Amino acid sequence: MKEKKIQKNKGISVENLTLSYEKNLVLNNVNFSIKKGSVVTLVGPNGCGKTTLLKIINGFLRQNEGTVYIDSRNIEEIANRELAKILGHVSQMHKSSFPFSVLDVVLTGRMPYISMFSTPGKEDIEKAYQVLEFMGIAHFAQRPYTQISGGERQMVMIAKALAQEPDFLLLDEPTSFLDLKNQIHVLKTIINLARTRNITVLMTLHEPNYALLFSDEIILLRKLENGSFSNRHEYSHDASPEKENILTLSEENIVSSGSPEKVMTPEKIKEAYGIDVEVLEHKGKRMIIPEI
Ligand SMILES: Nc1ncnc2c1ncn2[C@@H]1O[C@H](COP(=O)(O)OP(=O)(O)O)[C@@H](O)[C@H]1O
Ligand SMILES: [Mg+2]
Repeated sequence: MKEKKIQKNKGISVENLTLSYEKNLVLNNVNFSIKKGSVVTLVGPNGCGKTTLLKIINGFLRQNEGTVYIDSRNIEEIANRELAKILGHVSQMHKSSFPFSVLDVVLTGRMPYISMFSTPGKEDIEKAYQVLEFMGIAHFAQRPYTQISGGERQMVMIAKALAQEPDFLLLDEPTSFLDLKNQIHVLKTIINLARTRNITVLMTLHEPNYALLFSDEIILLRKLENGSFSNRHEYSHDASPEKENILTLSEENIVSSGSPEKVMTPEKIKEAYGIDVEVLEHKGKRMIIPEI
């Protein structure tokens, strides 16, 4: 039997992840590990595959190759209901059409704990209120979800994910739609969750300065240059005339990963985004300024 390399460490590990949407190769051989209780941010240009990566880790999307381990367990061997207790996910878009109350939306986060034909119990409602209070939004528990602002919805979605009592939280652009104060509030809340409840956070952020301020580690990604070609596994490494395709096959998504200082350098940012930036230091904090 072929032996698999199993990650022994707790946290999230992805090994050799590859994913194409039909002929469009989006992720090529992605490898990283995230330590338990840390806050890690995925950063990179539009379309580089951040959302795709989160969806694979969450089990929404099946990779073509590779493995995701949560606390050393292959997620394919974890039942959906159990995975929902371990892993909370806040996606980029929050569609809503039916005017459920904010409380009801947060209660849907309790689903993995409620048996098939029963309704949420007293304990579930108490837990939902606790997270609403923790997020500072208990005052609009009874408001229809369709009648609150985009920023308030973002907070409700995080509350819903927390109601799952997850060990891991995946957040896709948690600051989008938020004003400055709420951006900081949400990011501080996320850090607080990691520090006080040992929740491991993997999120995507567009603002590199927030990534610098709020991450223990950053994974900087690039968009694969020539993602569209077919039959890529058929090319051999030597004799094929399709040289460009071979080059693409060796290109990988991760430009750099590790501490914010190590990753967010002008050179690496240029590699990922193709733009020139300066890195300034102020009171021990780093800041990225684009050259315009
Ligand atoms: N469901 C899909 N079907 C086909 N292509 C997709 C789909 N979702 C995303 N893509 C493509 O995959 C690439 C990566 O998308 P995505 O993971 O959303 O990037 P990011 O979140 O980094 O902006 C993009 O080129 C996008 O157009
Ligand atoms: Mg995205």
